[in-house]
Amino acid sequence: MKKIMVIFGTRPEAIKMCPLVNELKKRKKFDIKVCVTGQHKEMLDQVLSVFHIKPDYNLEIMKRNQTLFDVSISIMDKMKDVLAIEKPNLILVHGDTTTTFISSLSAFYLNIPIGHVEAGLRTNNIHSPFPEEFNRQAVSLLAKYNFAPTERSKKNLILENRSEESIFVTGNTVIDALKTTVSSNYNHKYLEWVGDNKLILVTAHRRENLGNPMRNMFNAINRILKEFTNIRVIYPIHLNPKIRILAEEVFKENRNIKLIEPLDVIDFHNFMYRANLILTDSGGIQEEAPSLGKPVLVMRDTTERPEGVKAGTLRLVGTSEDEIYRNFKLLLTNQRMYDKMSKAINPYGNGKSSSIICDIIEKHLL
Ligand code: UD1
Ligand code: UDP
Repeated sequence: MKKIMVIFGTRPEAIKMCPLVNELKKRKKFDIKVCVTGQHKEMLDQVLSVFHIKPDYNLEIMKRNQTLFDVSISIMDKMKDVLAIEKPNLILVHGDTTTTFISSLSAFYLNIPIGHVEAGLRTNNIHSPFPEEFNRQAVSLLAKYNFAPTERSKKNLILENRSEESIFVTGNTVIDALKTTVSSNYNHKYLEWVGDNKLILVTAHRRENLGNPMRNMFNAINRILKEFTNIRVIYPIHLNPKIRILAEEVFKENRNIKLIEPLDVIDFHNFMYRANLILTDSGGIQEEAPSLGKPVLVMRDTTERPEGVKAGTLRLVGTSEDEIYRNFKLLLTNQRMYDKMSKAINPYGNGKSSSIICDIIEKHLL
């Protein structure tokens, strides 16, 4: 039986790869191994436990305040042994993290074919998001199979001379996950705290936004909270200590914002479903929000998810305090604009992406 090793290391990769792991295992056509790098720890464990997946390998590389050097060196050092022992016929990686890039490079050095899930997203600005845009472009040079979520991402790969036969438009597995998590009778103590007020959900974590850009985001939110008494902000803070210290400092006086621990994915998707509006610099949330019809202010200068902007759900607002404040206020006061942005449109497939990817792998590998 041929062997496939699925490799991931951070929360968003896990959310998008676990549905695929479960589909591959269910079909029993291949020997499936799961290797997590442990680039994230608690935030990864939360997802593994929701999807009931026990990895065959955990490289446990995470360190507090890790640098890109720490992550890259530790993964490369440990991955070579795992790949040498298991000798998979194919590895599957996801997206654009350092786990994705370094695992792909390790497989490439050992002549192991690579399947890239969520291939072809581009901002074409190597510094934004950093280092993710480099990671995803580099993996496209190495991958044998490119599972592109949309026609647009396929086009990006063709523009870079990737062969058409290597590209398959599959939708995004994040929708597979979303189909299983949202329920209409969900409740939570923090949602009770929100009551009849408008719930604003916030997340922020990008490396290029640490420091001043993030301070700008938080200041803009504080200004809005001072002016509008009918909103409540819930902000599940990423475990990066640099973010936590800043958020606790800027928001310490504010009683209408709750700084909480990262939510597990079932809770988070249901909070999104209940939210009036989302402010974020996250990638995955930009994909989930359109199908839930939730307006998102994307606090970044670039996005690799133009499908959501075209659908009208996402608005790219940059990282200056005034622009975030202005757009935030507009959405709270201009009902017409709000309604226009809150139409549910799903550019990322019908929730069957894992199954589509499995079919393609079976066709090529069996
Ligand atoms: C990483 C990815 C980013 C992705 C994000 C998803 C890279 C370079 N970055 O960024 O693309 O969008 O994950 O969240 O691959 N920490 C914990 N526990 C955890 C997770 C993180 O304590 O479970 C803390 C650690 O102190 C760690 C720090 O957060 O050093 C940063 O983690 P890291 O993976 O380096 O960066 P992210 O910003 O999470
Ligand atoms: N998410 C979660 N709990 C949280 C915040 C986010 O489960 O407290 C989920 C969210 O639904 C999305 C993913 O995490 O699927 C996004 O991860 P993140 O923003 O960390 O990374 P990115 O997508 O930017 O790479």
